[in-house]
Amino acid sequence: MQIKTNPKNLSTSALRVIPVFQANAEETLVAKLGMSGPSKALFSGKKDTSYSLELDTQVILLLGLGENPEYKTLETTFRRILSKHSDLVEKEVILDFPDTFSTEQIESAIVGFKLGTYSIGFYKKEKAKDFAKLKVEVITGIEKAKSIVERAEKIAEAKIEAFRLVDLPPNKITPEYLGDWAKTQAKKYKLDVKVLDVKKAKSEGLEAFLAVGRGSAKEPKFIILEYRHPKAKFHLGLVGKGVTFDTGGLNVKTQAMHHMKSDMGGAAAVLATTQLVSDLGLAINLTAIVPAVENAIDKDAYLPSEVIGSHAGLSIEVIDTDAEGRLILADGLSYLVKNYKVDQVIDLATLTGSSIGTFGFECAALFSNDGDLSHGLQRAGEEIGEKSWPLPLWENYGKEMDSEIADIKNYHGKPFAGAITAAKFLQAFTHDHPAWAHLDIAGVAFGDGEFAKTKTGTAYGVSLLLRHIENQL
Ligand code: BES
Ligand code: MN
Ligand code: ZN
Repeated sequence: MQIKTNPKNLSTSALRVIPVFQANAEETLVAKLGMSGPSKALFSGKKDTSYSLELDTQVILLLGLGENPEYKTLETTFRRILSKHSDLVEKEVILDFPDTFSTEQIESAIVGFKLGTYSIGFYKKEKAKDFAKLKVEVITGIEKAKSIVERAEKIAEAKIEAFRLVDLPPNKITPEYLGDWAKTQAKKYKLDVKVLDVKKAKSEGLEAFLAVGRGSAKEPKFIILEYRHPKAKFHLGLVGKGVTFDTGGLNVKTQAMHHMKSDMGGAAAVLATTQLVSDLGLAINLTAIVPAVENAIDKDAYLPSEVIGSHAGLSIEVIDTDAEGRLILADGLSYLVKNYKVDQVIDLATLTGSSIGTFGFECAALFSNDGDLSHGLQRAGEEIGEKSWPLPLWENYGKEMDSEIADIKNYHGKPFAGAITAAKFLQAFTHDHPAWAHLDIAGVAFGDGEFAKTKTGTAYGVSLLLRHIENQL
């Protein structure tokens, strides 16, 4: 896709897309088409509506935006162009924005437009339409249009990367694949990268991480990416759960196991965000950690009731091998806090079904020991449409995780407060870092949507973290 801004001559064979706010639909149509357009009954600019017409041989697509569309609404509306109206698209598209469109509205529109090129038919004989050569012309009254478009394209590229990592199957997205992905992106985006194999992980004492990996034929990889900026005033640490497939281990899952290819949604968010932060050259330091592992079963698989070690030095009684995410995150968090001086630590993980029981698919469960960080994440998510809502970290929940044989156990064995007790477990491995937040994204990383018939990756976290970072610059 090549995007030009405000070109001199407009192609007449291109599909011309005109987004229309409901409040001034008539004025917009008169200004853009030189006529009043279709009657109100056919098109009024209402949210989630569209109308196509032909005018002097040019095909025109009107997109209704409603009254005051949010970031996500604009993104979704524009994503529909290539993913749903692609029959209207030949080789060229004109995005003809009204002058009232703000910088942020243009950004979200272009992000969405580019996301429309994504499709999950990776292994189909018949490929989806290829938009690599598509020409796009952006018309806007805003001066810095070119830089907005460039920025939007980078955001979309990162999100598509996050989609891919979740949607591709677990025989493709293995821990080794994620390690190689990190190395490739590190070259391309000028990051420092370390990928620890089993031997190195052993010498670093990542025992909880290694215990989870024991039952898999695929070697676990502990991935570390570093982005440094000379003018950084702030060092952010990110940890993402990278379970490339979660069978449950010996506590094998009996339901919807095939969804567990998405158990690296936290890793996808963290990796894609790291790519994006570097691509945008943001003035922060960022260290990202992804413990990547498959939770599988064989003769070496870790057993329920085993006592294992951890990077933090705490012994852990394994009550349930399906509570594996917290084990690898424990080592990821401890390693990060011990080896780097980070100002904030945020982990993202598809951690518990319990968080879905609480919030459904609406938002992530948010936990933090720092009120400012918690409010900041909540606000950033509301601004860009990746919501989260806080749950408490009261000490009585922590007591649930006391073990008699070891320092802590990985599951309290009770059918309540599962997301909170998991968060308390993680907190025990943060070495009391004063600004830690945990986002349980089990309900939002992978889900039903209008762009596919099956559940797909959502890239939850990428826009949220970008906004959170930029709110602090
Ligand atoms: N990966 C799952 C959590 C999950 C469930 C993510 C549904 C997305 C959708 C996690 O590893 C898990 O199995 N959690 C268990 C924990 C329990 C055994 C303590 C759960 O939530 O049931
Ligand atoms: Mn599990
Ligand atoms: Zn899991």
